[in-house]
Parts: sequence; structure tokens; C-alpha cells
Amino acid sequence: MIQDKIQITDGVFLVGKNDDRDVPFHRLMLTKGTTYNSYLVQADRLAVIDTVDISFGREYVQALGEHIVLESIDYIVINHVEPDHSGGLPALAAKAKNARIVCTEYARYELQRMYNLYTREFLIVKDGDSLDLGGKTLRFFETPWLHTEETMVTYLEENRVLFPCDIFSTHLANKTTFEDSAGYDITEDFQVYYQLIMHPHRRHVRDMLAKIADLDIQIIAPSHGFVLREDPRRFIDMYEKASRETPEPQKAAILYASMTGNTRKIARGLADGLEKDGIQVDIFDMNKADDESIIAAVQESNLVLVGTATKYADAIGRTEEVVGKLANLDLSGITAGAFGSYGWSGEGIEHLHDFLAATNMTLLESSTIIKTTGVTDVQFPLRMRFLPEDEADRIIDRTANFLAGILLDRKEDAA
Ligand SMILES: Cc1cc2nc3c(=O)[nH]c(=O)nc-3n(C[C@H](O)[C@H](O)[C@H](O)COP(=O)(O)O)c2cc1C
Ligand SMILES: [Fe+2]
Ligand SMILES: [Fe+2]
Repeated sequence: MIQDKIQITDGVFLVGKNDDRDVPFHRLMLTKGTTYNSYLVQADRLAVIDTVDISFGREYVQALGEHIVLESIDYIVINHVEPDHSGGLPALAAKAKNARIVCTEYARYELQRMYNLYTREFLIVKDGDSLDLGGKTLRFFETPWLHTEETMVTYLEENRVLFPCDIFSTHLANKTTFEDSAGYDITEDFQVYYQLIMHPHRRHVRDMLAKIADLDIQIIAPSHGFVLREDPRRFIDMYEKASRETPEPQKAAILYASMTGNTRKIARGLADGLEKDGIQVDIFDMNKADDESIIAAVQESNLVLVGTATKYADAIGRTEEVVGKLANLDLSGITAGAFGSYGWSGEGIEHLHDFLAATNMTLLESSTIIKTTGVTDVQFPLRMRFLPEDEADRIIDRTANFLAGILLDRKEDAA
């Protein structure tokens, strides 16, 4: 059953679904269940903030229709497109004919494709934009990668409520709405959720915290689990503290071979990106550096990236020779990846990938990355046709940021 309309504060209501099954999620089983919290904000105009899981979409819309006239909804705010929150959107949008969907640009891209909403009117919001509901004002802050690229949070100024969707959530089928009536200390449940869903994106948690730092937040109304009202600052502080913990220093070695400088530029860009995240990087031109220095740096590293240009369908220079030497060493526990610039077919990068596979380093591969993280915009081997002027920098920086993320997390797990 969809729960009744529960008042959170003046003009703000929760209509959600308590899902007390063992919920399969990201290859985990949420044995305590979860809730999908959708909110209504009622002023001169009416807004719905997030919906429920796709399995309960119709049930949700039916229940909502008993509380309000669906045609009177002016806005449906979608903070995050994952179907555990946007799943009710197609059913809701079909009935709420006058509602505009409010989300980030990238969320629109995904929602249109997920639910075939091409003819629907969207209101695209950017960081800091506000929306006047007549008596109440919503303000939006983009919070990319918490935990997917399109995410944002919504702040209701007059009532000082933050609607952060997945952020500040708890996975459990709580029977009471507010944490202050839970009857136990929810800290552990709250932290388990943080570790699982948010901590891998800790750099973005820091960015989010900076954005909401000046907001007066009286209530945090997330989309899973408890509504936090007794001392919301305590929960924000927990994110602050956990995301600040710095793991042990991590090192990377980047080796490259380049004819005209493109592969060198990728190597340098990766080094810059890793250094931004506090990774210490040693970079070597394989045709100039001696083997002893290269091997010493590799053995001290947590990550080894090797790049080559392609010439006559092969890797260039000393690439094969150097990586061949690495195959004779015990480099277990080190992560390795291939990259390179090519002109039309890029065989050299693929050969290099095979050479790395012959070492006992753990090889970065697109398929593994998707299966373990859900990330699809980081490719390994990293292949770049010449150096795509418009997007090379973005791809390189994103790749480096992703790699830094896995390095920093892995270390903490080991600790
Ligand atoms: C002599 C020569 C042979 C090349 N052969 C290939 C090739 O077989 N396949 C390919 O994809 N690109 C080939 N290329 C294109 C280069 O891989 C491409 O220009 C690349 O950006 C060079 O990277 P670099 O600047 O790091 O040297 C060739 C380039 C040259 C100059
Ligand atoms: Fe999510
Ligand atoms: Fe979620």
C-alpha cells in the first residue's frame, strides 16, 4: 500500500511507498527493505518532488489522485533519474497533463529516452535557479555524481526543507516517518547507506556540501528512509566528516611512447587529473627513460597507465619491450590500463592491452568498469582518434577523476 499523505511541515506532504521486501539493488540485497518518498509542495502552485519505484508507479498515481486533483499539478521535480525515484513519472505525467517536468539538462536527456517523453514540456534548471510557486520558492542545486551524473537537490526556501533524493537517505522500511520517533539511534543505518552509495563519490560529496553550506536547513526530506528534523546538521556533519577522511597517499606511474605528441598529451592530461585528486604521479617517455627507473616507479605504484601511438598497425618504440619486462615481475595488487592516440584503427593500443594482460596487474577494461561501477563514460583501453579537440580534455579529466576514485576507495577498504 502507498502510505497516506503525511504532513512534513506547513504545505509539505510525503506520499510514498514502504517496500519491506528484500529489495535487490546494485547486486546487493537490501534486507531491511527501503522506502520511496515522494513529496508534495502546496502553494499557489503545486509541485511534486520525485516519485516512487517503477514497480509501484500506477499504485502511487492512484493514491496521489485521492489526495489531489492530478491535473492541478504544475510541476514534477525529478532530482535523480534512477527508476526507484523516477519510476512513477510516466504514469504521473500521463494524468498530470498540465505539469512541467523540472530537472537538469542531462536528466531530460535520460528521462525522454527512458519513458518516451519527447513531446512533454520540460523546465530545465541550472545550479542556483529558483522556481516561484506563489508563496513558496524552490531552489535547485546541481549535485553531479551523487550518485549519477544528472542529479540535483531541491531546497524549499520558506520552510527550509532540503529534498536531496538519494543523498542523506537511509535504506530501510521505516515504520515512522521522522527519525526522532524511530525509537532507536539511526546513525548506523544512515552511515551504512553513506558508505555504500555516496562514499565512492566522495569528491562530489565535498562539492555538494560546499553548495548547501549557506542554506538554513531545518528538515532534510530524502527519498529513502527517515525524514530528518530533530538535528539535520548532525547528519550533514556526518557526511562532512566521512568525506573528509583522507586515505593513505596513492601513487601512479604513467609510461608513454609518442611520435607526434598526441599520446604524450593524453599522458600529461591524465597525470594532471590524478594530481588534482592528490595522487602522486611519475611520468616516463619510454624511449628516453631507463628501465631501472621505470621498474622502480611501477613497483611503488598503485596504478600504472601505459600509452602508445599506433604505427603500421602496431605499438611503437619500446612499448612491447618495457611492458614485457613488467611481465616478469610480481605486480599483483597494482591496477593497469592502456591508452593511446591513433589515426584510423589503433591496433597498437589493443596490442598494448594484451601485453598488460600478460602481467599480473589487474587490468582496467570497459566491461569490468560497467559491471562494478555502472560507469559507462570511462573506457579502457582509452582510445583517442588523433586528439579530439572538442572533447579530449573532458574525457581525460573524467578518466583521471574516475581512476583517482577507485584508488582512494580501494585503499580505505584495505585499511
Ligand atoms: C608512419 C605512421 C603510421 C601510422 N599507422 C597507423 C596505423 O596503422 N593505424 C592507425 O590507427 N593510425 C596510424 N597512424 C596514425 C597515428 O597513430 C596518429 O597520428 C596518432 O595520433 C599519433 O599519436 P602520437 O602523436 O602520440 O604519435 C600512423 C601514423 C604515422 C605517422
Ligand atoms: Fe539512485
Ligand atoms: Fe535511490
